[in-house]
Amino acid sequence: MSTDRAPRVLVVGSGIAGLTAALGAAGHGLDVTLLSKDGLDETSTARAQGGIAAMTAALPAGQPRDSEELHVRDTLAAGAGTCDDDAVRVLVRDSAAAIEELVARGVALDRAAGPGSPWLEGLEGAHSVPRILHAGGDATGREIQRALLAAALAAEAAGRLTISRHTMLVDLVLDPGGRAVGALVLTDPGDRLHELTADAVVLATGGAGQLYPHTTNPAVATGDGIAAALRAGAAVADLEFVQFHPTALAAPGCFLVSEAVRGEGAVLRDATGRRYLEDVHPRAELAPRDVVARENARRSLAQGGRPVLLDCTRLVPAGEGLHGGGTTAEFLARRFPTIDAALRAHGIDWSREPVPVTPAAHYLMGGVATDGLGRTTVPGLYAVGECAATGVHGANRLASNSLLEGAVFGARVAGALQADTLRADRSGDVAPARLVLPGRVELLPAAGGSGIPASFDRQAVPFGGDAEPAAGNTVPFGRVAAPFGREAVPFDRGRFQDAMWTGAGVLRDRSRLEALDRRLAGFRPPPDRSRRAVEDRNLLTVGRAVTAAALHRTESRGAHFREDFPAPDPARARRTFWRLAPAPHL
Ligand code: FAD
Ligand code: SIN
Repeated sequence: MSTDRAPRVLVVGSGIAGLTAALGAAGHGLDVTLLSKDGLDETSTARAQGGIAAMTAALPAGQPRDSEELHVRDTLAAGAGTCDDDAVRVLVRDSAAAIEELVARGVALDRAAGPGSPWLEGLEGAHSVPRILHAGGDATGREIQRALLAAALAAEAAGRLTISRHTMLVDLVLDPGGRAVGALVLTDPGDRLHELTADAVVLATGGAGQLYPHTTNPAVATGDGIAAALRAGAAVADLEFVQFHPTALAAPGCFLVSEAVRGEGAVLRDATGRRYLEDVHPRAELAPRDVVARENARRSLAQGGRPVLLDCTRLVPAGEGLHGGGTTAEFLARRFPTIDAALRAHGIDWSREPVPVTPAAHYLMGGVATDGLGRTTVPGLYAVGECAATGVHGANRLASNSLLEGAVFGARVAGALQADTLRADRSGDVAPARLVLPGRVELLPAAGGSGIPASFDRQAVPFGGDAEPAAGNTVPFGRVAAPFGREAVPFDRGRFQDAMWTGAGVLRDRSRLEALDRRLAGFRPPPDRSRRAVEDRNLLTVGRAVTAAALHRTESRGAHFREDFPAPDPARARRTFWRLAPAPHL
């Protein structure tokens, strides 16, 4: 890299993680381009409801005291023995600073009364004390997305950041030494492949809820960053740990009914009206999310597939201030305006009747393996937010720790980008910074094909006129899927999702996982170059990886529940790292 220009950084994704990393890096003087596959607010971030967990100083009188130790302990307990303790400590230690930064960027969190009064703090499952800050009652993500986007657009207007909407990462570009030096992207509409060169690439592409037919995630959540990282040779981790939210509305679209509703006292009942979670866990409806999701799935199966019921009709609004007082209907509308409007649009008056709910794929604990600064095993490649596996969530993410992760690690990645690109500049790039894994790495079958069909025209078009295709760049075109047998069938997203739900859903076992593995191996990835086809290939790659990881973990732990191995195995209380096996070039 030459010293006469600022290091160039590509940040892929416009949720809390990407925006925080991009704003931070631009603030450090780096030349940042932010890409987003769709509109800038088509993110999981914008949908977040419950809030953001953080330890803050100002608590209303009489509320139980929080402490760093307590938040760490709750996170580790939910994570069921596979968290990275150091990463969890960083997450909690930096939480107050991350909240200050969000507020400084314009995020308006709910307060007990007027300006300067303490922030309101809600309770969610597996938290020992109320520590969930929120905005607009249940519109926390919308407010965070709004404020961070406004800051990014202001930075763009001031010439400190470039934003490229409807621009889809397809594959990473590596130099002959295996360092990430750019990305190949598709712009929308169109089918032209552009090459962007960079000194560092940050993946902030979110989760992969679209692996399943029932998900709370937006349509963009197709695991693109994880698939591209795998094809570039990066290690991934924890992919067997898929979090299913226990209470999505049992209707097309799986609208989320926040855990914060249970935090306010809502209870779950079966079709006969019986409350059942008290028999299952001492914390009943506020047990860790995996426990509640599993029990809801079992109860629903036991009553012939009919959904279980979330009963909010007896919520008694307690206390004074913003959310206190009034009837149940008034309280629900005030505390949860987004959910209230959505349920009423479905014809449900939740102050009078129970809400039918079902588990839905919600969050991927696994992702691209990183260190505490977002560095992956590929030099020059960073990952942050839901697409990353920092180790903070273990086998089951504690509610409201994800927005926090995006804010905390987004800022840390920005710092690392500055330090690493400067260091690369000064040292002549002798030993580029990257994650070095502690031990064994398992091999995944090459699957899903390249991000780009083998027939794709390799002629990359420089982006914006200033991106010179670097000599000797290698794109992992040759990593095309294993040979497809004669019986291979064309990929069909609906069939694929149904197979994932049956084979690698809330309840798993070996025979269903093996059947799923065979089924996925028989899908022929779509050959064309449309955005949908690129997503489908990525879903297939990530789906096969999730399946392999779930087969490999022969125990039950957190969100990964094996009916054939229903207990945790203490000898397996560790994370598993994977990378793609090299496949023969076509
Ligand atoms: P996202 O916010 O999902 O952003 C991903 C970005 O990457 C998008 O801009 C997308 O367009 C872009 N992208 C993806 N692929 C490509 C590609 N190939 N090329 C270019 N761009 C691409 N967590 C909490 O902590 N508290 C909550 O209350 C909470 N509530 C939730 C409610 C719902 C309904 C959902 C779905 C999630 C909730 N979560 C919550 C989880 C949390 O919102 C997400 O984990 C978090 O926002 C992820 O942030 P992110 O920046 O990593 O990804
Ligand atoms: C919710 O509001 O229930 C979602 C919170 C989360 O996913 O952390």
